Amino acid sequence: MNPKQVTPEEITQTQHNALNLISTIKESEKLNTLESTYSNIKSENIVFRERKKKALIDAQDKVKKMENEFHDDTSISITEPVIVYVDGVFDIIHSGHFNAIRQAKKLCDILYVGVNSDKDVHLAKGPTLMTCDERSILAGACKWCDKVIPDTPYTPNIDLLNQIGAHYAAHGDDISPNEQGVDCYQEIKDQNRMKIFKRTEGISTTNLIGRLLVCGTTENKNLQINYKPLASKFLSTGWRLREFCNEKHPSSEEKVVYIDGAWDCLHVGHIKALEIAKSRGDFLYVGIYDDTTAHTYFGYGNPILSLLERTCNLLALKHVDDVVIGSPRIITEDLIKSLGISLVIGDESLYKDVENTENDPYMIPKKLGIFESIKSLYPLNNDILVKRLFDNKEAFLAKYEKKSLSEEKYYKSKTNETQEI
Ligand code: CTP
Repeated sequence: MNPKQVTPEEITQTQHNALNLISTIKESEKLNTLESTYSNIKSENIVFRERKKKALIDAQDKVKKMENEFHDDTSISITEPVIVYVDGVFDIIHSGHFNAIRQAKKLCDILYVGVNSDKDVHLAKGPTLMTCDERSILAGACKWCDKVIPDTPYTPNIDLLNQIGAHYAAHGDDISPNEQGVDCYQEIKDQNRMKIFKRTEGISTTNLIGRLLVCGTTENKNLQINYKPLASKFLSTGWRLREFCNEKHPSSEEKVVYIDGAWDCLHVGHIKALEIAKSRGDFLYVGIYDDTTAHTYFGYGNPILSLLERTCNLLALKHVDDVVIGSPRIITEDLIKSLGISLVIGDESLYKDVENTENDPYMIPKKLGIFESIKSLYPLNNDILVKRLFDNKEAFLAKYEKKSLSEEKYYKSKTNETQEI
């Protein structure tokens, strides 16, 4: 059987069909690719739309927040500079108080510090160890205080803010109730004129009263006092010290003055001595004895404050340019040369028995003719504070017991938190 002869026309037709088939396959592959691209785009579009929706919601929230803030601020019309009023008792002023004043100053251009009157504090909280006059001199000596206002009410109101020209009041986040059991700042809060900052942990007047009670009880062994001695919990981090520091050193033209001491519980005599020392030159270094040195020379129970608590106190004061932390008690020629000191100021009455002997801490500056003696300038020291405490023992103990219990409760309930310490 002869095979079927294929005509040239049939070959052409078959080739044509084959080409058509190839083309159809290619088209179908293209279609598949297109379909998958389309589906990708579609799903990306869904993600995009979700993101767009979320961004829109976030933006709306932000606008709402800004509107609220704007609304808050329209409650008073602020003309620069912003003035804040921070008030308190500031008894035995300490680094927690100074840190409060520092934080309040950050909220404004001009800071007024109100010091509550003796009468009001007595009614609301009980007795104070220092009078309002003493507390005001100490608060006014703080470098972040632009103006001190003595004898202020324990419960401030809007009239007071308007009268002194302050835009806002400020307080730590530990507001206590007044004698009527009411939040002292409620009226000011209701008018959106209140600023709150973080209370500094680890130090309080109550804690210092506890330490003074320990000191006094040891002096007078017959006293039966159920106190809970409180060790210092104040955290002097590098960050804290930096916030308190002036970060400056004297230039070669400046006259450098040096004054040293233990600088325990700050009092008016300390401020007066620093004022005099600063007035004698341009740059004042303050030497602060370490705890062992202070203890050796000032006796049992002293110092009440740790070296770093005393350091923060000194660094917060107007007249202090820088400090020497843990300074030697006997002033050496090396110390004088290293700091470029032109004048040393000292209270010789503390060292009567060693005057002009090799134990005289001021022997070298005396020999160099760069020593000026000052006498105690205000009748206050730890012994007198302890006496004031024990003269009104019952009232102080009642106040101490009440507050130390609430502080203990607070520290027990504390959880981990990241904060400005
Ligand atoms: N303050 C603070 N940190 C502390 C102690 C006080 O921030 N460790 C703040 C208070 O929140 C307030 C101001 O310092 O804004 C003045 O406080 P004050 O009226 O003297 O009273 P207390 O809060 O009772 O201080 P303390 O417990 O030391 O007596």
